[in-house]
Amino acid sequence: MDFPNTEPYCWDCSFEVFYAKLDDEHKSLFKAVFDCAADRGSAGALSNLCSVTANHFSDEEGMMKGAGYGDFAGHKKAHDEFLGKIKGLKCPLDDGTIHYAKDWLVNHIKGTDFKYKGKL
Ligand SMILES: [Fe+2]
Ligand SMILES: [Fe+2]
Repeated sequence: MDFPNTEPYCWDCSFEVFYAKLDDEHKSLFKAVFDCAADRGSAGALSNLCSVTANHFSDEEGMMKGAGYGDFAGHKKAHDEFLGKIKGLKCPLDDGTIHYAKDWLVNHIKGTDFKYKGKL
């Protein structure tokens, strides 16, 4: 599945999963990626991206687990892979990395997170 990036890069209601906590966290993820793109040399922006991402994945996984969500394992694997990649990044971030992170978030929410809508 391939969803286009939104410009300006921010959350809009087409990303809504209808769990307030997760929607709020998705908004912070967009902002964290946006901040990294705006200041590619900022180690603080990168470390903030890693921490809001880790926090969100942990909350989302907790809700999936609590609901006995069927595709938990595959979903967690996608999270682990992305988190592993961004934790290994060093500043300054290049265009390819920014593009990858922007694309991953859009596609992960619409292609993967959307599958749990109504099930958590
Ligand atoms: Fe997810
Ligand atoms: Fe998510």
